[in-house]
Amino acid sequence: MSKWIMAGLIGIAGLLAILLLATQLPEKTQDANNGAVFTVQGRPIDAKAALQIYQSMCISCHGTELQGQIGPALAHVGTKMSKEELYRMIASGRRGMPAFEGRLSEDEIITMTTWLASLQ
Ligand code: HEC
Repeated sequence: MSKWIMAGLIGIAGLLAILLLATQLPEKTQDANNGAVFTVQGRPIDAKAALQIYQSMCISCHGTELQGQIGPALAHVGTKMSKEELYRMIASGRRGMPAFEGRLSEDEIITMTTWLASLQ
């Protein structure tokens, strides 16, 4: 009887380990070169590049601490907007939010999108 309990426990532990691996692999694959954490589609969050763009193009409306000013606060925008919504907002704008398509490259918009999505 206790043999079966042991076997069951080992089986459950094995399953949990596999589940843990399966859920962690796509989300956090460490890059051997710079230790960057990769997100969807193998695109790392490049906070340095994003901050540079933020300082030159977004800070005037969204504030020095992402606290919002003319535009809303962005400090936790990753909790309320999906990557698709973020991308669309930056590329196409909305009312007081200017469209950055043309002023930022697609690559730069993705940089801003992955960074903002990480602000939880
Ligand atoms: C001229 C001022 C201005 C600039 C510059 C600006 N924004 Fe905005 N932004 C706004 C306003 C105003 C809104 C609110 C628009 C709405 O709700 O319709 C907004 C909304 C947003 C939102 C949605 C936030 C939410 O909670 O709904 C995101 C994301 C955003 N901006 C990102 C950026 C990024 C990234 C940049 C720089 C590349 C930038 N903005 C530059 C004014 C600006």
